[in-house]
Amino acid sequence: MDILRTKDEIRAWRRGAQGRVALVPTMGYFHEGHIRLMRTARSLADSVVVSLFVNPIQFGPTEDLSRYPRDLENDAAKATALGVDALFVPSADEIYGQSHETYVYWPLLGALLCGRTRPDHFRGVGTVVLKLINLTTPHVVPFGRKDGQQVLLIDRMVKELDLDIEIVVCPTVREPDGLAMSSRNSYLNPADRVQALGIYAGLQAAKTLIEGGERRSAAIRNEMSQLMGKFPGLGVEYCDVVSRETLRPVDAVDHHAMVAVAGRVGTTRLIDNLWTIGTGGDIRVEL
Ligand code: PAF
Repeated sequence: MDILRTKDEIRAWRRGAQGRVALVPTMGYFHEGHIRLMRTARSLADSVVVSLFVNPIQFGPTEDLSRYPRDLENDAAKATALGVDALFVPSADEIYGQSHETYVYWPLLGALLCGRTRPDHFRGVGTVVLKLINLTTPHVVPFGRKDGQQVLLIDRMVKELDLDIEIVVCPTVREPDGLAMSSRNSYLNPADRVQALGIYAGLQAAKTLIEGGERRSAAIRNEMSQLMGKFPGLGVEYCDVVSRETLRPVDAVDHHAMVAVAGRVGTTRLIDNLWTIGTGGDIRVEL
């Protein structure tokens, strides 16, 4: 596997890449969720490039940029074992230079849900993802469903900026007890880890209700609040039933809804969601 650090190197790699190319954008510290993305990429393309870049402009001034977990050696070993062809590991200076001023952002959709407490987050994500797409010109880019708002906004960018690529949404990968895999789980001490399960408990309750025929958002949110209230160490930031098109609250779930939760346990911020899928009256839940 090639480890590439500059834009010139990644462009040269791309010129020599055979067939369909998949890009897996990551911030590293690989867990099973990333591995799922890399396996999906491998199954959909002839050449796979993984970017590993802790993107400074998607972190707020008081957020965890400086302590975000990093382990390049281990990540490179995992990517090699998965048959990744190239790992792109640029510096912030290589990506942005000294006077970067061009951004991609969603003034309305990027201000909802996570955007309420992370006002510049999606601008940072959109900008770096477009740059990575431009540098690697992939055919296909898999994203995890766990970062639901992120993948919906990227999908919108692809459509609205006429990018000729396919976005593939991969299922959330969970720990055996249900906690969604995230690099930030490494911040949780054992007591926090128990409290973090409140998010999954809430979402599971929502899934049971929806599968049992409940469609009213208020009833779903009430049940979730009650359950999450049993985890006193979990500070719920939001718990919303929204349309995946508008990201705005809906009165009733249909086959295109997202039940999205963000919460804090100690200093760790966690997110998770479920999606409703299906046609007509037949609604399935993907958690
Ligand atoms: O999901 C992530 O890890 C990041 O937001 C991404 C897409 C790699 C952009 O930095």
